[in-house]
Amino acid sequence: MKGRLAVGRTGEVQVSRSHYATQANCIKPSGKTRGSLQSARSFLVTRMLLYAVALCLLALSWANDCQVANIQVMQNFDKTQYAGVWYAVGKKDPEGLFLLDNIMANFTVAENGHMTANAMGRVKIFNQWDLCANMFATFTETPEPAKFRMKYWGAASYLQTGNDEHWVIDTDYYNYAIQYSCRLTDADGTCADSYSFIFSRYPGGLRPEDQNVVTRKKDEICLLGKYRRVAHTGFCQNSESLNLPLDQQ
Ligand SMILES: *[C@@H]1O[C@H](CO)[C@@H](O)[C@H](O)[C@H]1NC(C)=O
Repeated sequence: MKGRLAVGRTGEVQVSRSHYATQANCIKPSGKTRGSLQSARSFLVTRMLLYAVALCLLALSWANDCQVANIQVMQNFDKTQYAGVWYAVGKKDPEGLFLLDNIMANFTVAENGHMTANAMGRVKIFNQWDLCANMFATFTETPEPAKFRMKYWGAASYLQTGNDEHWVIDTDYYNYAIQYSCRLTDADGTCADSYSFIFSRYPGGLRPEDQNVVTRKKDEICLLGKYRRVAHTGFCQNSESLNLPLDQQ
């Protein structure tokens, strides 16, 4: 516990720790103890303060420290239930934005248990052409069922290729999923370059009843407020540009 707890002269309790400042806002008793309180009342106040302190300490010990190594992923992840089509409805972009919108991914689990996916999304090529990119990915399992290594490449050579972490933070399999990838870990253990998709089984967005859990998870992975909405306009359904012969650059 790196948080500092200080009790000021007026009986005001302050918890200071830059990362936790917002979580610690719960302790703000009024400091106006002018010495005229009756002992019974001050006993009560003291007890309430102690409860408040205990609650805040509990909140601090649960608070996320934004260390990549401490990020919680989906427990007992079941890739078979995860399979099928997911529409990206929110995205936190990495450095060097690639997929813009109309992003959907279709995960398949083969009989041998290997997971693959194909994905589509609008991209801008050479800062000029709007295309629907057709991408493929294979997943390598790790001892943690919700953590994969993802190797990906495009149907055409001018599309991105790479090898990223692919973590499933949370999902109910039927409605929402939160994916996370840290491409570069900073010296202090936090993530220097991450991306994350909020997936929905419906292109129209998340159900209202899933918003709260998704917001909580965004906060847990320290990306709250970093997402943009991903539109679905039918671009990839209507696009005939998939196989443009741009390979001959
Ligand atoms: C998703 O992949 C499965 C298995 O390859 C395929 O049968 C299905 O048609 C795909 N769905 C879409 C919408 O592409």
